[in-house]
Amino acid sequence: MTDPLFDLSGRVAVVTGGLGQLGSVYVDGLRDRGMKVAVFDVAAEDSVDVTDRPSIEAATERVIAEHGVPHLLVNNAALDSPPDAPAEEVGPFETYPESSFDQVMGVNVKGTLLCCQVVGAAMAREGRGSIVNISSVYGMLSPQQEIYEFRRHGGEAFTKPVAYSVSKSAILNLTRYLATYWAKEGVRVNTLTLAGVFNDQPVEFLEAYTARVPLGRMAEAREALGAIVFLASDASSYMTGANLVVDGGWSAW
Ligand SMILES: NC(=O)c1ccc[n+]([C@@H]2O[C@H](COP(=O)([O-])OP(=O)(O)OC[C@H]3O[C@@H](n4cnc5c(N)ncnc54)[C@H](O)[C@@H]3O)[C@@H](O)[C@H]2O)c1
Repeated sequence: MTDPLFDLSGRVAVVTGGLGQLGSVYVDGLRDRGMKVAVFDVAAEDSVDVTDRPSIEAATERVIAEHGVPHLLVNNAALDSPPDAPAEEVGPFETYPESSFDQVMGVNVKGTLLCCQVVGAAMAREGRGSIVNISSVYGMLSPQQEIYEFRRHGGEAFTKPVAYSVSKSAILNLTRYLATYWAKEGVRVNTLTLAGVFNDQPVEFLEAYTARVPLGRMAEAREALGAIVFLASDASSYMTGANLVVDGGWSAW
């Protein structure tokens, strides 16, 4: 029997970046719970680019025509530089490429803002909805540059880039802004902050990372799903403007 608190059946969701490592888990998990889920992903067959407002508008119109106004928007699409990013992305802060900054901010911040403008506006007109903006512990705290030490063993310079952190901090206050802006329209807006998810990273990175996290391991992708279901459902009906942190304790010490 489905607990009515967490019941999502028959509701409509949009997941941006829904083809990625975490997005695909959200899409499958929400569909398993009876939601109609539309994927807005630039890599999809019917590509939706979250930095392009007409592209989002057209996709949202298709979702509304087919399923109705979304109840849930998960702003999950983002660019990061992975631990094995190319040299020009991971040099010193002083020479971090302007074009990389613009690209990361474009997808992570403007992309989230545009999807909120288009999908959130439809929710507000409907008088209900839940928006989940995905952030990272690197948006709350500075990256630990030490855990990338293995990249420097061959004499290579490596700095975890700045743009991702700046972009993910912006998510926290975009969430608060919209939570207050749309509260009377019944649209709740929350941030879900995640920490590192296991994805076959190099063993030296895994050792350095897990030594710094109280639970002693990286997250499994499916461990973010419970928070998405909670924020999507009536179980979180009194929650807006908040930051739900699912980080294995990373930010606790
Ligand atoms: N994986 C982690 O360890 C981790 C940790 C903390 C936070 N996060 C956050 O979780 C979210 C998902 O991360 P992930 O690791 O699954 O990422 P991913 O790289 O596996 O997936 C990102 C998806 O976004 C899509 N995308 C990129 N640019 C787009 C655009 N302009 N328009 C539409 N789609 C676009 C990509 O095609 C891809 O499918 C991100 O917001 C990320 O910052 C991830």
